[in-house]
Amino acid sequence: MAFCQFSFIKLLHLKVGTIVILFIYLFFNSSYDLSDQQVSKIPHPKNPKKIDSYGRDIWFLTEENELFHWYPVLESLIFKESDVLDFSIGADGTIAITKKDNEVYIRTDKWERISYGNYEHKNVSVYSSYLIYTIDSRNHLIQAFYDSPDTYSWACLDCLKKYYQISCPISQMDDDYSDYRSLWIIGSDHYIYKYSTNKKYIAISESPFKQIKVFNDQYIIGIDINNNLWKYRDGNWVLIRKYVKYATLNYLREIYFIDNDNLVFKMKS
Ligand SMILES: *[C@@H]1O[C@H](CO)[C@@H](O)[C@H](O)[C@H]1NC(C)=O
Repeated sequence: MAFCQFSFIKLLHLKVGTIVILFIYLFFNSSYDLSDQQVSKIPHPKNPKKIDSYGRDIWFLTEENELFHWYPVLESLIFKESDVLDFSIGADGTIAITKKDNEVYIRTDKWERISYGNYEHKNVSVYSSYLIYTIDSRNHLIQAFYDSPDTYSWACLDCLKKYYQISCPISQMDDDYSDYRSLWIIGSDHYIYKYSTNKKYIAISESPFKQIKVFNDQYIIGIDINNNLWKYRDGNWVLIRKYVKYATLNYLREIYFIDNDNLVFKMKS
């Protein structure tokens, strides 16, 4: 009996030790990035479904398709437009929207229509005021180039494959020409691809994603179909957060995200 008790206690010690070691192991090897846990709530409309920011300015699209602008100077949330399907902010601050009429508008002194009824535009991604991409209702990739005087020339860039999302890099326009026009997409099987000007696709993910946002060619974030938010930086996948509905990254490298409970958070990356 004494022998039995002794070996039981020994076994117990061994188990506790194993758990402690396991815990330490998990703590240091965790795929969670522990430095990125400082999140703070920010003001937002009810039922936000999409968020994007340009510095301190934050834009929201709600489940009711209403577009709002959190304007830091007045510290207020300003209603901008209804019937909005999608919106995007380019690296130069250009804001474009698609509306329920399936046309594309950019924000000048008003919402100025820049498409001419040739495509049923659904999703939009702005590179700059000179280059805008959309996905139409047939999931084709459409491109608009600015042509003076004040018109855009529209063309179907790929009318064969299916596109689910496009994201233009937000950090560019300086040194690295290779960043220019590199376009990231969610394409066939909902995998992430890098799309180059020679129409080559480089597969990035091996599993389906719902949404991505590209900082530059070395840094993107994405939400997989299980609502996990990932950071893909210099070839490393790091899990940032679970239960995320939508996420974005701005030029200040801040990540804003909407969780499954419609709460909005901001974190440094
Ligand atoms: C694309 O637009 C549709 C609305 O037409 C929207 O439901 C969908 O969420 C958009 N996709 C992304 C990735 O924003």
